[in-house]
Order: sequence, then structure tokens, then C-alpha cells
Amino acid sequence: MPPPAPDGPQRELEQLAVQIRHHEAAYRAGAPEITDGAFDDLFERYRALADALGVPEGNRLDQTPGADHTDGFVQVAHRVPMLSLDKLSPNRRGSNGEPMPLSEQLDNWYARRRQDLGEPASLGLIVEPKVDGIGISLKYDDGRFVQAVTRGDGRKGDDVTLQVRQARAVPERLKLTGQLEIRGELYWPLERFAAYNERLRARGETPIKNPRNGCAGLMKRKEPQGIEEAGITAFLYQVPIAENVTLPPTQEAVLSWLAAAGAPVYLDETARFDTPEAALAHCEAFGARRDGLGYEIDGLVIKLDELRHYDQLGGTDHHPHWAIAYKFPPERKPTRLIKISVQVGKSGKLTPVAELAPVTLAGTTVTRASLHNFVELARKDVREGDVVYAEKAGEVIPQVVGVDPTQRPPEAAPFPRPETCPVCATPVMAEEIFLYCPSPACPAQIRERLIHFASRGAMDIDGLGASTVDQVIDKLGVRSPEDLWSLTHDQLVSLERMGKKSAQNLLDGLDRARGRGLSRVLVGLAVRHVGATMAEDLARYFGDAERLLAFSSRYVSGDEEAITKVAPETGSGAIDGMARKTADAIFTALDRRAVRDVIHGLGARGVRLSAVLPVTTEVEGVAGKTFVLTGTLPTLKRSEAGERIKQAGGKVTGSVSKKTDYLVAGADAGSKLAKAEKLEVTVIDEATLLGMLQRQ
Ligand code: IVH
Repeated sequence: MPPPAPDGPQRELEQLAVQIRHHEAAYRAGAPEITDGAFDDLFERYRALADALGVPEGNRLDQTPGADHTDGFVQVAHRVPMLSLDKLSPNRRGSNGEPMPLSEQLDNWYARRRQDLGEPASLGLIVEPKVDGIGISLKYDDGRFVQAVTRGDGRKGDDVTLQVRQARAVPERLKLTGQLEIRGELYWPLERFAAYNERLRARGETPIKNPRNGCAGLMKRKEPQGIEEAGITAFLYQVPIAENVTLPPTQEAVLSWLAAAGAPVYLDETARFDTPEAALAHCEAFGARRDGLGYEIDGLVIKLDELRHYDQLGGTDHHPHWAIAYKFPPERKPTRLIKISVQVGKSGKLTPVAELAPVTLAGTTVTRASLHNFVELARKDVREGDVVYAEKAGEVIPQVVGVDPTQRPPEAAPFPRPETCPVCATPVMAEEIFLYCPSPACPAQIRERLIHFASRGAMDIDGLGASTVDQVIDKLGVRSPEDLWSLTHDQLVSLERMGKKSAQNLLDGLDRARGRGLSRVLVGLAVRHVGATMAEDLARYFGDAERLLAFSSRYVSGDEEAITKVAPETGSGAIDGMARKTADAIFTALDRRAVRDVIHGLGARGVRLSAVLPVTTEVEGVAGKTFVLTGTLPTLKRSEAGERIKQAGGKVTGSVSKKTDYLVAGADAGSKLAKAEKLEVTVIDEATLLGMLQRQ
């Protein structure tokens, strides 16, 4: 007998967990779909339900930020962890159940600090802008910039020195001595961001949605040539490590000291106060200055001024006790929901969208807002004709955050869950909380898939933006990615806003895209669960599309050997991070006739279907040597370490013999280590390997 279906609250808890995981993944992928506030609300609701149902701690989702690590970047441990900030929260309630005013929250916070510091006569506060960028830790050695590391999971981050340097985001030299670690925020000034998008638009490319994610994306470019055009810059606010130099005693003095050394700090936007009341009044008034700053801030940070108090107070694993964030309330306005329409995405996912009476939020007119999915729509009970509250924080997609039930028209009815695709009428399929149109011939999917196929993370076809995609579909009969390579110059010049030069640019763009290789083709196919990393792993493992497709069909036909190879019952198989469920979904999708046809069609048009192996640059000491890898390495996956050895001209084999030059051993190394010791093969750790690889 199947287990009984979970009842109401249990079911809602499970659905909330799926939503939270989905939004965490979207956030990590640099494409958040909801505001931080909306995410916090989902989590709050999850926590309340889990409490009510008595779910033990160990079985709950935890709200720690996911490790923000990008494959291919070397991870560096932070000597002092990069934590988050505690925040004043409009959602916090006092013991009487009433919302607690921010002034009371800040007073309590301040009183607690005074108490812990033994009631000092005065306790000054510094208030700084909280720039909405990406946290960065910089090393300066006697004034020379030597390293930049992202925040990552707070304990270790990615080394982005190359990118930060190429972007000219921080000064190469500062007028100071000693060994310093300086923390700050990389950000994209709004004017430079707008100019960059203008250039993208002029080239027919899709503009970047918001400066924060755009900045993060640029800093994770593996080939950063040219990113200096973007104009990324930094704002520095903390010196957690200073060796062979004495720091001034207060935060205010440190900022002046940094400024005098030539560092970018925003002294004009920083102010000092003696009381929490004055600090909060400044925060609340600062909202009016927000639009004129030229960069995005999501609030302010209130810090104690005297640095000697920082060590005395310490903090939790999550945040220090010497600072607290004030976040601006997101602008929220009521407006009439005229209609709910259903959008079909590239993978066929159906998303309900609210069509709103125009409302101005954060300076732009909003007429559409996401309703996320049908589970969320039912939970909020949003109906056509309702007065809803729309919210927009930063540049993220506007959201409908709630309904005003008192203004509901009597005829308003719950929105029915679609049974068929609104575009092609194929019956929908449900997977977890989402609905999908399964038809590969669905016109909405064709459009979205082509836009995705041409996008930067996929085939990066210069000159093929959304409006050109619409035209090639409508006027030139393009249906599938491979059709793009049959387009002629004559056909292209017949399109609107397409001169001879842009037509040639697009043809050149298509020609360049031909050689991007298997992993980019796989990303372009928009198969669910195949993001950049999975696509690279598949390409690296199978080498070319023929082998991948042959394997997919063996997998789908139930070939035990194939199944156990990539997705064994326990542990991980040949491909990192691929569990049985993902493998089922990926290989089933790849084995579909429609997908095979596209892949073969691309091959017939000369699109490269083999993996593009990274160019080998021989590194002395590694080139020509044979390595074996064993155990768990502290930062790299074994496959990554192997890749880097091969890129440096070395060989990687599976077993230790007399011919082995080095065994790279990580934690829990077993028999290979024993054998290497017996054969007197040199055993090295990951740090030594990385050192060898850097010797050029
Ligand atoms: S002080 C424990 N000052 O906000 C971290 N942080 O939400 C102490 N941020 O991780 C940080 N502007 O990336 C500080 N003026 C400022 C800031 C700031 C932006 C970022 C920082 C931090 C995040 C926490």
C-alpha cells in the first residue's frame, strides 16, 4: 500500500521547502526571482509551520547562505571569517505579540552593548551606507594589491584577483605599509551600468538585469579580458588584519586613514552619532538621498566607533555584535490586478503573471508582477479583480506580496489551475510544485528556447537578441536552433532594423558560435538540471555528443551497467553531483527524439559537438610528469585538480606505479597512499600541487 498522502499543513511545509530550495538555487545562480524580504517571509512561514508540527531541528531546512563557489576558481580560506550582519527587522514582534518599533530594537541592541562593555561613559556610533554589491576581501602588501577573494560561504571564498585587477576595480597601490587585509564591497555604479547595457543593446544583445548580479557575473568570468570597460569599482570599510602597522583607534579614523592612502571610502556619506535615536533618525532620513547616490544601497550599517570594543564583544557564527544593519523598507503599493496570465518558459514551465493597473515603484512603472507558481497563487488566494500589494526591492522582478480581502469584488473567483498549455493546448504535466507543457513544438517554448540558446551563458551568438529571434521565427520560419545556421545574408537584410552590416555581424556571430563546444551546446538545449557546471561535467566525461547520446539511450533502456556507472545506489558515480533522480531526468531528456534531432541537425551545420579541451600551457615541474590523485582534497574536486594538471601539460593516471611521479593525497587516502609510500613515490598535498601549478 502506498504511504498515506500528507495532510494540509504537512503538505504545505513540503511545498514551502521545495520553494525555498528553488529560490536559494536561483539566488546562487545570480538570478533571484523574489526579493530578500519575500524570501524571508517564506522562511518565516516555514519556521512557524515546522514549529507547529514539531519538526525536529535536524530535519529542517537551515537558512545558512549556500556556499557560493564557482567551479574552476581556487578557494582561499579567510583568516578572519566574513560574516553577515544582524538586522533591525520590521517583522520582529515583542513579548506582547505586537510589532516592535525599530527604535525599540535599536535601543535594546545599544543597551546590551553598553552592558557588555561595562557601561562606558559614552559609546559613539558610525553609520555607513550598506552598498548592495559583492563582499570582497583584499590583501595589500606594503601598499601593493596582491589578492582578492570573494566572500564565498564566509569561511572560504573564490580567488578573483585576476578579475578584480583586470576590472581595475581597486587601486593597484595604496600609500601605506604593512600587510593588510581590507574588506569592502565591489559594485557597479549606476551610470556605468546603464552605459554598458546601452552598448549591449546596440549590439542586439540582452541587457543585464541588475547591477549587483551583473557585477558578480563579471567577477566570475574565467577570461576577464575587456571587463575594465564595465567600470566596476569598490567601497572599502574594514581592516580586519593589520600586520607591521598600527591602525587608528576608531572606525571613523580608519576610514580617513584609508582615504588618505588613496582607498575608495565614502566619507561624505558616513556620519557619527552619540545616541541610537540620532543614528536611527539619520537612517530614516537617508532614504531621501538614496536615488541621488549613483550606486545602489539596500540600507545602512550602524557600527560602534571604537575598534577596541570589537574584540571585546565578538559575535555569533552568523554576525558580529559590534554592528547592525538598517534596511530600507521595500516600496509597497496597492494596485488593481486586472488579469492573471500564464507564461510558458523555455523548459515549458508555466508561470502565473499578474497584469496590474500601472503603479510606480522604486522609480519605474510596473504593470506586471510574478506570482511564481500555482501553489503560491493558491496559498495567497490571489484573484483577478483583487486589490493587491506590489513590491519591488532593488532591480528584482516586481512581486505581488498580498491581497486586500476587504476590496475583493463579489464575483472574483479562485484562479483555476491550468489543465492545458495556454499557448499550444497540450495537456500539462506536474512535477513537484510546478506545471509544465511537455510539447517540444510549443511556439512559446520555441521562442524562449531560441533566446536562451543564443544567450551569453549558452552559445553566445552576437547580434541575436529577443527582437531578432521574434523576427526570424515569424518571417524566416526558424523553428529549431540548427535552422539559424541556414539563414542567408539576403534573408536577414529583409528583416526590420537589419542593415547589411548588422546582417553580416549576425552571420559572423553565428560562425564564431559554431566552435563553442559540447558543454555550451548542452547549456543551450535548456535541459532541466543541466546548468553550466553539469554541462561541463558531461562534456568532460563523455567527450562528444555521439558518446553522450549512445549512453543516454543505454541508460533509458535500463542498462544496469550504464545506470550504476553514473548513478549508483549509494555514493556518487562517475559524474560529480549527479544523483539517481537527476540522472533519470537528464538522460531521459537527452534521449528524446526532439533533442537528438536538434543535436544531429547542429552537427550537420558544422557546429562543434565535441568538448573543447582547455589549451595546454606547459608549467615547468608539472609538464611531462605523471600524477595520481586520491582522497578528498580540501578545496578542489579531484576532477578539477586533474583538469588543471592536464592543462599544465601533466598526465593523470588512475593507479600508482613506479612510473608515478607524484601522488596528490587528500583526506581519507587509502590503499594508493600505502602503495605510494612502499614504492617511494613523492606524496604531496593540494597546497603543494597548487604551488607547483603556479610556477610559470
Ligand atoms: S561591515 C560582519 N559595512 O553587507 C560583516 N558591511 O549583509 C561586517 N556591506 O557581508 C561588515 N556595506 O558585504 C559592512 N558599510 C558596510 C557595508 C557592508 C555593505 C555588506 C558586506 C556584508 C553584508 C552583510
